[in-house]
Amino acid sequence: GKVRAPTHIISTISDDRGEEPCYAGVPMSSIVERGYGVGDVISLLWFKRSLPRYFTHFIEICIMLCADHGPCVSGAHNTIVTARAGKDLVSSLVSGLLTIGPRFGGAIDDAARYFKDAYDRGLTPYEFVEGMKKKGIRVPGIGHRIKRGDNRDKRVELLQRFARTHFPSVKYMEYAVQVETYTLSKANNLVLNVDGAIGSLFLDLLAGSGMFSKQEIDEIVGIGYLNGLFVLARSIGLIGHTFDQKRLKQPLYRHPWEDVLYTK
Ligand code: ACO
Ligand code: LMR
Repeated sequence: GKVRAPTHIISTISDDRGEEPCYAGVPMSSIVERGYGVGDVISLLWFKRSLPRYFTHFIEICIMLCADHGPCVSGAHNTIVTARAGKDLVSSLVSGLLTIGPRFGGAIDDAARYFKDAYDRGLTPYEFVEGMKKKGIRVPGIGHRIKRGDNRDKRVELLQRFARTHFPSVKYMEYAVQVETYTLSKANNLVLNVDGAIGSLFLDLLAGSGMFSKQEIDEIVGIGYLNGLFVLARSIGLIGHTFDQKRLKQPLYRHPWEDVLYTK
């Protein structure tokens, strides 16, 4: 029989050895000929399967809605400062990406984890939120610097509207909405934010589409795939901010003294 030399790398998502590259076994020509979009490519390379259109469309909507949120947010600010320091595209991009984390854009996985755990354990929103408070953990997916109960995040509304029309089930999202109703009764800034909306809706996709086993869902949520959506999406905006600053020939940024409280 064949003796196989041990390999140093195992790879299961793509193969470039044939006449044309394949993503999860699907050749590039099929991807182009079948009119696949970026949501389909993400399905193949991240989830290793073709997913239904409403699923891939939702992924694409997330990417479009999270592509940018103006120059003042953490990521764009870092990218702008870096571009103005004369750094190259990749440096400017990663400088912005490095701000993505538990407070900014990177709360999607934790939102999915905590909402899933609370819903699956049958906790009421009161029990869930107050339990988190006792543990001293802010509820991921809740709260925003500028959005309020009376100035909701349009992106959240758009995602929810799409899901209510196209998803087989929206039980996790409805639970997140009930949590938001409770948190809003405590403070007006404790809205369901875009990370919380994507986290809860992705749970609905994973559980309701019938495309993933329970074990696979636990693995996706456990590894933390979902922040990848924000990282990917926001890269589009951060690259745009880099080009913008270069086009505008902006000089080195220096923060004004007047905006710093110098104190002992
Ligand atoms: N859960 C519970 N209580 C909260 C939460 C939350 N998620 N957010 C704020 N609060 C309450 C707390 O009592 C907080 O007081 P504390 O500092 O003693 O914990 C109080 O509100 C005031 O909080 P601020 O720090 O003034 O709120 P801020 O506007 O700075 O925070 C932020 C906004 C960072 C988004 C916050 O709400 C948070 O940490 N949320 C969870 C993480 C999250 O979902 N981030 C993604 C945001 S969307 C995006 O970046 C694309
Ligand atoms: C974003 O998408 O960057 C935001 O929701 C964060 C913000 O403060 O606007």
